Amino acid sequence: MQRPQVILNFAMTLDGKVSTARYTPSGFTSPLDKHRLLEIRSLGDALMVGRNTLQIDRMSMGLPDEELRKARVKRGQSEYPIRVVISNSGELDMNLNIFKHRFSPIVIYSTTSMPEHKQTELREKAELNLSTQERVSIEEVLNDLYERYQVRTLVCEGGPQLAQTLAELDAVDELFITVAPILFGGTRAPGLLGASASYLPSSRMYRLESMKIEGDECYLHYLSDREPCTTPTRLS
Ligand SMILES: NC(=O)c1ccc[n+]([C@@H]2O[C@H](COP(=O)([O-])OP(=O)(O)OC[C@H]3O[C@@H](n4cnc5c(N)ncnc54)[C@H](OP(=O)(O)O)[C@@H]3O)[C@@H](O)[C@H]2O)c1
Repeated sequence: MQRPQVILNFAMTLDGKVSTARYTPSGFTSPLDKHRLLEIRSLGDALMVGRNTLQIDRMSMGLPDEELRKARVKRGQSEYPIRVVISNSGELDMNLNIFKHRFSPIVIYSTTSMPEHKQTELREKAELNLSTQERVSIEEVLNDLYERYQVRTLVCEGGPQLAQTLAELDAVDELFITVAPILFGGTRAPGLLGASASYLPSSRMYRLESMKIEGDECYLHYLSDREPCTTPTRLS
């Protein structure tokens, strides 16, 4: 099955946590890292998140930097990435920030367990792809994004549950990790792949493409050790 190149972007504490045990909003990195997040986001034909991240981080999934948008257009991409949301339950509040902005299509992958009234409301704001299975198949989502939406580069900003599924499918081609100078602690605080006790079906090695230090933060860029589908992403 064909799929886009998948880039995962996360900020992590010194003890490997991406959130607190209470799953509080992200916001523990510097303004520089927040701009770097936009730079990485701007590389994707589409940007994908899970429902909790969308909700907890109040994401509009936009690109509030005109220069980055201009560079996309120059590269032949749309001004803004397509916004992709994953949710089995379909419990998406219409007051979420994402629905207040119309700058790019919103594509939701969910299941028919989404209540009918919610389906009607959401169809006014987004394209709904509802599976009749109990769970959304991320493998099929990736293939659908590739085939139907012509997505060749997909940036995923989490959260950890969604990242875990991508890793289980061995579909993480690149990783951008910001290591932030802070400790959270707590066994229930999620790491990159959540707080689940289960192992991946098999390990995947990555090789370090670049490392940059700014202030007390470290920016890491890793590539999968298999042959890349496309040229590795470059950031300034
Ligand atoms: N540090 C960082 O860079 C970073 C990045 C992202 C998120 N976070 C933090 O991570 C926390 C949220 O973690 P999380 O693991 O709950 O986030 P998440 O993966 O965004 O959300 C989990 C929810 O998304 C849906 N989902 C995820 N994977 C799915 C799959 N494979 N198939 C179908 N649906 C799927 C499900 O929604 P339904 O329940 O609707 O079925 C699931 O309950 C927040 O505190 C957030 O701030 C941190």
